[in-house]
Amino acid sequence: MAASVQLNAKLLGPAFIVKPATKHFLKPARIRCAAAATAPPTKRYSITLLPGDGIGPEVIAVAKNVLKLAGSLEGIEFAFQEMPMGGSALDLVGVPLPEETLAAAKQSDAVLLGAIGGYKWDKNEKHLKPETGLLQIREGLKVFANLRPATVLPQLVDSSTLKKEVAEGVDLMVVRELTGGIYFGKPRGYGVTEHGEEIGFNTEVYAAYEVDRIARVAFETARKRHGKLCSVDKANVLEASMFWRKRITAIASEYPDVELSHMYVDNAAMQLIRNPKQFDTIVTNNIFGDILSDEASMITGSIGMLPSASLGESGPGLFEPIHGSAPDIAGQDKANPLATILSAAMLLKYGLGEEHAAKRIEKAVLDTLDKGLRTGDIYSAGTKLVGCQEMGEEVLKSVETQVPAAV
Ligand code: IPM
Ligand code: MG
Repeated sequence: MAASVQLNAKLLGPAFIVKPATKHFLKPARIRCAAAATAPPTKRYSITLLPGDGIGPEVIAVAKNVLKLAGSLEGIEFAFQEMPMGGSALDLVGVPLPEETLAAAKQSDAVLLGAIGGYKWDKNEKHLKPETGLLQIREGLKVFANLRPATVLPQLVDSSTLKKEVAEGVDLMVVRELTGGIYFGKPRGYGVTEHGEEIGFNTEVYAAYEVDRIARVAFETARKRHGKLCSVDKANVLEASMFWRKRITAIASEYPDVELSHMYVDNAAMQLIRNPKQFDTIVTNNIFGDILSDEASMITGSIGMLPSASLGESGPGLFEPIHGSAPDIAGQDKANPLATILSAAMLLKYGLGEEHAAKRIEKAVLDTLDKGLRTGDIYSAGTKLVGCQEMGEEVLKSVETQVPAAV
């Protein structure tokens, strides 16, 4: 049903999203006075929440409240359903992605994930690792396009480990292929050579349709940004990359308005540190995207700030902060909830086409930073140190006080 909804949200913009009411919804939330006069008719969406492990439950609780309030101000109601995933699901039912969780996720309009993993399950066999659950849900929801923005906010420019003049103004988007490549390629496994030597092996493989579809998402994304797309590969060595480059180049003919360049991944890793402002949109395979998106996030100095969206051709998108489960600070009210709050904004924008509600949230996050509030990971002298809950409350206040006209 939502076949083209995910991509249309980006391709065509929210005006083209037609969203039927879902069967699952909560009691109508009270629509606040400020918005009552201008609020559009109530729309309803079902959201699966996957709090996961470590700081996941804390940041999801905060983001849920923000989503609820921003939605209610725009005439949107959410029905939330929390489901177990990752280590907590392993403890509960013995698998990292219970069937019920995947089924609930598939039936909903969007999925918001906290974080998974922790020391407790690190030594588990592969099929019993929390990370395996994450790969399974990406595969299960067929979310092949992973959008990872890395934006240096003016308020946080001093958090970057790069010099101010290098980091300032960086605003890039990594479009990572998420359901193919070496993460999923076959054959894979362990074996023994003819000489009796033990080996482990994986396969980097891409079919034309896989490259073509991620290419189109990337070109569309670049077109809506600054019109520059850099495809990152290792085409000087790997056949899979030579093929990737050939397909990306072929698809480029559909987008004459987008300026395409190609870069080898080792050079891209270097250029991201040397001069990150040269990049607008980057498209790359699963494993290079994994690595480069962590690198890009560090330019912003605050991995606790970065959201992500994983989208497919049909069905719900998966939205999650880039940071992990941070077991060292779990349960201590120290986590930065802003990446999850911004992931909720991406959910509204890319998953549901609710751009206004998304903007409310983005603006509230900036306002809260402008007020000088900081969690430990982004704290600097002269700012006010707050915990996860207080940060969430401040964002709520800011969402609440925005007049619709300001959105
Ligand atoms: C990420 C993570 C995952 C990945 C792990 C946890 C499986 O590093 O989302 O970037 O490698 O994709
Ligand atoms: Mg990663």
